[in-house]
Amino acid sequence: MKTTTINRRIQPLRGEVTVPGDKSISHRSVMFGSIAHGTTEITNFLKGADCLSTISCFRKLGIDIEETQDRILVHGRGLSGLCAPSQILDTGNSGTTTRLISGILAGQNFSSVLSGDASLNSRPMGRIITPLREMGASIASINDNDCAPLKIEPGKLHGIHYHSKVASAQVKSAILLAGLYAEGETKVTEPTLSRNHTELMLKGFGADISSGADNNGATASIKPCQELYGQKIPVPGDISSAAYFIAAALIVPGSELLIKNVGTNPTRAGILTICKNMGADITFINEKTAGGEPTADLLVKYSHLHGTTVEGAIIPTLIDEIPIIAVLAAYAEGTTIIKDAAELKVKETNRIDTVTENLLAMGGHITPTDDGMIIEGTESLTGAPVNSHLDHRIAMAFAIAGLAARGETTILDSQCVDVSYPGFFDVLH
Ligand code: S3P
Repeated sequence: MKTTTINRRIQPLRGEVTVPGDKSISHRSVMFGSIAHGTTEITNFLKGADCLSTISCFRKLGIDIEETQDRILVHGRGLSGLCAPSQILDTGNSGTTTRLISGILAGQNFSSVLSGDASLNSRPMGRIITPLREMGASIASINDNDCAPLKIEPGKLHGIHYHSKVASAQVKSAILLAGLYAEGETKVTEPTLSRNHTELMLKGFGADISSGADNNGATASIKPCQELYGQKIPVPGDISSAAYFIAAALIVPGSELLIKNVGTNPTRAGILTICKNMGADITFINEKTAGGEPTADLLVKYSHLHGTTVEGAIIPTLIDEIPIIAVLAAYAEGTTIIKDAAELKVKETNRIDTVTENLLAMGGHITPTDDGMIIEGTESLTGAPVNSHLDHRIAMAFAIAGLAARGETTILDSQCVDVSYPGFFDVLH
């Protein structure tokens, strides 16, 4: 257990930051590379604990994955090249590993067991068990509580059209990956579009995949193909990690930060829209596209922020950034309302509860609601002990809150930042 102390930052923050590679894209690059034919070369891969769990699972499934100083080489064995694991597949704290790999494992001719840490094993898996079973998969929660550990046995899959109640990229991706092994076409419709990295990357690997949207929601469709083919994947900087430095620059007076090579895929970049709605001064520079994903350098200047409403279709595009948006709201003038975000309850922690607990500890004004929170801005928060509850995004969001708070903020169990941003505190310091 580690505790990190943050003091109020009197001097402006100035300079350049390069954030680590995108977590969602890093996971997918290893997974798709493993079931592709040939070698996939990944640069700027995020060596955070979650993505390392994905690497470790695929090694146990017989894939040779080389880690060099600046790249990862995945020597894929094709769609049917995975081998039966001799051990339980440990997915650690990673919901993405667990849910996406389930879709792949459902289509194999061997059995496997997936299990993670206490937080992971209490998160809902019924949301993937139900559609995968509809496709013919044999997947069960070992403790019969719709949570991991999960046991997956060989099953003959067929395509379905699944209407998901939640806009979840993990659910969508699990179904699409199972669709690679199913007979016929598989479709997933979600109420609004969640992050589309799976669709973009699978297309690049040669999958027969398409997507569209209408009044009934966003639909992705996949047909089985002969093979996927190894690719070069340049992973963009993670906007979810950039979010902490964006917020730091916005709340520490006089600051000006250039955050380089940030992924700006619109299905992920909702935080930028919300910051702009709050009056933030953020400029896009050097816009590019790499590996099908848009990127830009973000120039962020200290700004006088005001409250806003965050609701509806934008929620899935910023779901992981709500803790840091709550911190921005606490320093903004007026009221911020966050709604339609009940999914916060099933993240690494119940983030409605953990944001509320910690913002109250720092003297903030917050009312939790059933699907979000209402925050009244204040001139300044007060430093306090903050409990991360082992949730990386809570630890980082409240470290940033501490930069503009009176006195000292201590983050308990701060080592959990390693899940998505190893070295976060060194960069911050
Ligand atoms: C992710 C999807 C989101 C997000 C998670 C990563 C992904 O989860 O919160 O951190 O890589 O697909 P949901 O699909 O459960 O919304």
